[in-house]
Amino acid sequence: MRNISLIFKQFSRSVLLVAGLGLYTLNANAQTDAAKGEAIFKAKCTACHKIDQRVIGPALGPQLTSETDDAYLTKWIQNNQALIAAKNPKALKIYNEYNQAGMTVFAELSDADVGNILTYIRGEWKTMQEAPKGGGGTSTAAPQETGPSNLVIWGLIGVIVIAFIVILVLNKVIATLERLLLRNKGLLVEEEETEATKEPVDKFATVKRLAKNKKLVFFIVLCGTIAMGSWSWTTIWNTNVHSGYQPVQPIKYSHELHAGAMKIDCQYCHSGAYKSKNASIPSLNVCMNCHKVVKTESPEIHKIYDALGYDPKTAKYDSTKAHPIQWVRIHNLPDFAYFNHSQHVKVAGLKCQQCHGPVQTMKEVYQYSPLTMKWCIQCHKRTEVNYKGSGYYDNMIEVHDRIKRGEKVTEAALGGIECGKCHY
Ligand code: HEC
Ligand code: HEC
Ligand code: HEC
Ligand code: HEC
Ligand code: HEC
Ligand code: HEC
Repeated sequence: MRNISLIFKQFSRSVLLVAGLGLYTLNANAQTDAAKGEAIFKAKCTACHKIDQRVIGPALGPQLTSETDDAYLTKWIQNNQALIAAKNPKALKIYNEYNQAGMTVFAELSDADVGNILTYIRGEWKTMQEAPKGGGGTSTAAPQETGPSNLVIWGLIGVIVIAFIVILVLNKVIATLERLLLRNKGLLVEEEETEATKEPVDKFATVKRLAKNKKLVFFIVLCGTIAMGSWSWTTIWNTNVHSGYQPVQPIKYSHELHAGAMKIDCQYCHSGAYKSKNASIPSLNVCMNCHKVVKTESPEIHKIYDALGYDPKTAKYDSTKAHPIQWVRIHNLPDFAYFNHSQHVKVAGLKCQQCHGPVQTMKEVYQYSPLTMKWCIQCHKRTEVNYKGSGYYDNMIEVHDRIKRGEKVTEAALGGIECGKCHY
C-alpha cells in the first residue's frame, strides 16, 4: 500500500510539472500573436494609419474587413512598391486612390510578423465595433470574443484544472486510507508527527521542502536558462543596431514644419540624393534663402546668423566670424559597406520614406530603419527591378547584345566614365 501511494505521488507530481510547463508555453503562445502584432503596429504603422480613421493611409479596420486576401496583403505590407511596379490592379487602385502617397517598404517584416499585425488589427477592430457606441466602450471588450484558438486554450486549461483536482482528491483519499491501515496495525506514524511539530517553528519549511523537489528545481533552472538564453540572443543580434537613434541637433530645425507643413521638397535641401552617393546635409546658405527675412528675431535663427558671420542689422557677412554648424550625423553605415543614394532614388525610383520613414512628420529626425545587412538584403530579394525606360538598363541590354554579337565593349560603355563610379 505504501509503495502504491509513493508511486502515485511521484506520478501526480510529474503530471503537475508537465501541466505547468504546458500551460506556461500555451499562455506564452496565446499572447504572442496579437501582442506582437500590436507592438509592431504601434512602432511602424501609426505614423500613417489608425484602425478606425483615415490618416495618411486608409483606416485599417474597415480596409482589412473588405480586403481578406492575406497573401496579397502580406506582399503589400512587405513591399508595396514591388506590387505597384508589377502593375497589380488592386495595388494600383489603392495607390491612385490615395494620390500616390506611397507607403513605406517593410522588407524587415517576416510573414509571421505581418500575420500578427493583421490578427491584431482585425481583433482590435472587432472589439471597437462591439463596444457600445457613445463612450467609455473599449474597456468592456468581451474576452470570449477573440476567436476559436482561445476556446481551445480555455478548454485545455479546464481539463488540466479538473485533472489537478482529481489528483488532489485521490491523494487525500489514499493518505487517509493509509493512516487508517497503520493505526489499525497499531504503528506510530513518525513522519507526520515530526512534520506536525516542526512546522510552526521553522518558517522556511515550505521553501526547504520545495528546494528538495528535484523536478521543481530543474524546472526553475530550465526556465531561467531559456530566459537568459533568449535575452542574450536578442542582445547579441541588436548590438550596433541603432533604430530609433535621435540625437539633439544644434539648431531646432524641424522636418515636420519645413518638409511636412510647408511641403518643401526633399530635393530642395538634399539634392545630392538624386545625383550622387551622398544625400548630403544642406549648407546654411540654403536656409538663408528664406531666413534672411523669415523669423529674424528667433534665437534659433540667430544661431544660423552667428554660424555664417551674418549681421542682420547691416545685412553683411563677416567671413572671419563664420564657423560650421555641427549637425549630429544620424544614419551611418560602416565604411566597408557601399551605399549609393542615386542608385536607389534615381535609378530604382524609391521614395525617401521607404528607408527613412515618415520624415515629414518628424520634429527631430530619428533613424527609422535598422540599416543592417539583413535589411538591405531582404529588400533586394523582394524588390523587382523596373528596367523599362531606364537609361541604365537600356545601356546594359545594348552592351549585352554587343557581347553576344562578339563586338568590342569598352569600360566606358559599362559606365566607367560616370563620375560616381570613381568619386564618392
Ligand atoms: C509613410 C506612411 C505609411 C506607413 C508608415 C504605413 N503605411 Fe500603409 N498605407 C499608406 C498609404 C498612403 C496607403 C494607401 C496606398 C498608397 O498610397 O500607397 C497605405 C495602404 C495600406 C494598406 C491597404 C492595402 C490594400 O490594398 O488594401 C494596408 C493593409 C496597409 N497600408 C498596412 C500598413 C501596415 C501594416 C503598416 C505598418 C507595418 C503600414 N501600412 C505603414 C501609408 C503608410
Ligand atoms: C529646408 C531644408 C530641408 C528639407 C526640405 C528636408 N531636409 Fe532633411 N535635413 C535637413 C537638415 C538641416 C538636416 C540635419 C539636421 C537634422 O538631422 O535634423 C536634415 C537631416 C535629414 C536626415 C538625417 C540625416 C542624418 O544625419 O542621418 C534625413 C534622413 C533627412 N533629412 C531626410 C529628409 C527627407 C526624406 C526630406 C523630405 C521629406 C527632407 N529631409 C527634407 C534639411 C532639410
Ligand atoms: C522655403 C523657406 C525656408 C527654408 C529654405 C528654411 N526655412 Fe526654416 N522656416 C521657414 C518658415 C516660413 C518658418 C516659420 C514658420 C512659423 O511661422 O512658425 C521657419 C521656421 C524655422 C525655425 C523655427 C524658428 C522658431 O523660433 O520658431 C527654425 C529653427 C528653422 N526654420 C530653421 C531652418 C534651417 C536650419 C533651415 C536650413 C536647413 C531652414 N529653416 C530653411 C521657412 C524656411
Ligand atoms: C534604399 C534606402 C534609402 C533611400 C530610398 C534613401 N536613403 Fe537616405 N540613407 C540611407 C542609408 C543606408 C544611409 C546611410 C548612408 C551611409 O552612412 O553611408 C542614408 C543616409 C542619408 C542621409 C545622411 C547624410 C548622407 O548624405 O548620407 C540623408 C540626409 C538622407 N539619407 C536623405 C535621404 C533623402 C532625402 C532621400 C530621398 C530623396 C533618401 N535619403 C533616400 C538609405 C536610403
Ligand atoms: C527599399 C529597398 C532597398 C533597400 C532597403 C536597399 N536597397 Fe539597394 N537596391 C534596391 C533596388 C531596387 C536596387 C536596384 C536599382 C536598379 O534598378 O539598378 C538596388 C541596388 C543596389 C546596389 C547596386 C547593385 C548592382 O547591381 O549594381 C547596391 C550596391 C545596393 N543596392 C546597396 C544597398 C545597401 C548597402 C543597402 C543597405 C544599407 C541597400 N542597398 C538597401 C533596393 C533597396
Ligand atoms: C575612372 C575614374 C574616374 C572617373 C570616371 C572620373 N574621375 Fe575625376 N578623378 C579621378 C582621379 C583618379 C582623380 C585624381 C587625379 C589626381 O589627383 O591627379 C580625379 C580628379 C578629379 C578632380 C580634381 C579634384 C582635385 O582635387 O584636384 C575633379 C574636379 C574631378 N575628378 C571631377 C570629375 C567629374 C566631374 C567626373 C565625371 C564627369 C569625373 N571626375 C570622373 C578619377 C575619375
